[in-house]
This record gives sequence, structure tokens and C-alpha cells, in this order.
Amino acid sequence: METVFITGANRGIGLELSRQFLASGRNVIAACRDANQATELRELAPSPQLELVDLEVTSQESLSQLAAKLDEKTIDIVINNAGVFGPFDTAVGFNDVQGWLDTFSVNTIAPMQVTSALLPNLKASDRPKVITVSSQMGSLHREEQGALAYRTSKAAVNKAMQILSMELDEHDIIVCPVHPGWVQTDMGGSEADITVAESVSGLIQVIDSLKKEDSGKFLTWKGEEHPW
Ligand SMILES: NC(=O)c1ccc[n+]([C@@H]2O[C@H](COP(=O)([O-])OP(=O)(O)OC[C@H]3O[C@@H](n4cnc5c(N)ncnc54)[C@H](OP(=O)(O)O)[C@@H]3O)[C@@H](O)[C@H]2O)c1
Repeated sequence: METVFITGANRGIGLELSRQFLASGRNVIAACRDANQATELRELAPSPQLELVDLEVTSQESLSQLAAKLDEKTIDIVINNAGVFGPFDTAVGFNDVQGWLDTFSVNTIAPMQVTSALLPNLKASDRPKVITVSSQMGSLHREEQGALAYRTSKAAVNKAMQILSMELDEHDIIVCPVHPGWVQTDMGGSEADITVAESVSGLIQVIDSLKKEDSGKFLTWKGEEHPW
């Protein structure tokens, strides 16, 4: 039975990923900043099918504790889902340097660090995959303004995942950034195009059907290749 590791699992897309992977019979290791407060997540399934772990994705100490705790476990799918929108800055007049750095810490650097911390666990799997929930808002192809911190952080994580896919090719680890659609969550808002259940059901079909030749592609929740 596959084991899926998900960050930001206490709400939004991460919570629904946990719910639907559990419903499909997979084991889920659900990471969130405060597992004790994650009541809705905890109620999805009993242990050992569902294991909750504390993880602040920007903290090296928290990542080291996680790696030590999951030492002997095989993980088949790592999903870097935790994300923040950050400040709504425009490029002209931009002044929230710390807000931009914080957005990069969560959206760009943490997916690399989480993946590095769990690399031994992934290498123990027969068909390992690293999925990073990115966004079409990071696509250079889309000429849109605003949300400087968010857009640049997602553009950068797309490039980081492309590089990672090449470096992990020799270990047969599939790496893909994915766009989940515009989704009705706290981040996406109630006016968004699709429900979280629709998005996640599509994402899981995409993840389950990934082949080695898909590694390094930027894919949508419908399985289409998204322009970089
Ligand atoms: N919703 C959309 O329309 C949409 C579209 C494109 C891409 N995305 C991407 O999809 C992912 C999930 O988004 P969402 O809509 O589900 O957002 P959300 O409802 O705002 O949930 C964000 C999740 O990330 C966690 N998180 C944030 N910072 C963290 C940190 N430093 N350490 C650990 N966990 C942290 C949050 O935990 P706390 O509860 O502790 O804050 C929460 O669980 C994000 O990467 C987002 O950029 C979303």
C-alpha cells in the first residue's frame, strides 16, 4: 500500500488530498504546523492509516525532527502543498521585502528542503514521486500583473522542480509541479472556479497516472501540460 506525505494538510487542498488519498486506501502522513489543533484532519481516519506530524516547512529544526521521526519509513509520494499568497504588491512601489522573502521561504525554498529531508524515504519506494502544488500564476507565459511575491515564488519553484527532476532522474524519482485550478479554499476564495473536491480528484488521477517520461513537466489538475 502506497504512503503519501502531504504538507499543509490541515485545511484547503492539503486536507482534501488527505481525505481522498485515505478514501482510496492509501496511507497518509499528514504534516501541519500544529497537529494537535488539526481536528478535522485527525477525524478523517484512525492510526496507522493516518499519521499526523508537526511541520513548520520553513524551519530547519522542524525538518530535522521530521526526518528523524520518519527515518525507517518508505514514502511513495511527497506532496509539497503548503503555501502562502503573501503581500498583494505591485512591482512599481514595491517595498515589502520581508513579505517577499517570507513568501519565497514557504512557496519556493521549503519544497526543496522538504524533498531533501525525505529523499531517503523516497529512495526506498518502488515508484517514487515528488509533486509540488504550484500555480499558473507563476507561468511566464501569462502576462499578468500584481501579486508580485506569489507569482515570482511560483515561477521560481517551477524552475526548481524542473532542475530537481533532472537531478533525480537517475533514481527514477518522478518530479512534477502542478497547477490545481482556481480552487474554493481560504486562499482561492469562494468565487473560485472549482471546488476543492473537484481539484483534488483531478490531481490524484494525474498523480496516479504519471510515467517516468512525465517527470519535469508542469501539469494541470486535468492532466494537461501547462506552458512554463
Ligand atoms: N486555492 C487556489 O485557487 C490555488 C490556486 C493555485 C495554487 N494553489 C496552491 O495550492 C496550495 C494549497 O493552497 P490552498 O488553497 O489549500 O491554501 P490555504 O487554504 O490557504 O491553505 C494553506 C495551507 O498551507 C499551510 N502553510 C502555510 N504556511 C506554512 C508553513 N510555513 N509551514 C507549514 N504549513 C504552512 C497552511 O497551514 P496553517 O493552517 O497553519 O496556516 C495551510 O494548511 C498552495 O501552495 C497554493 O499556492 C492554490
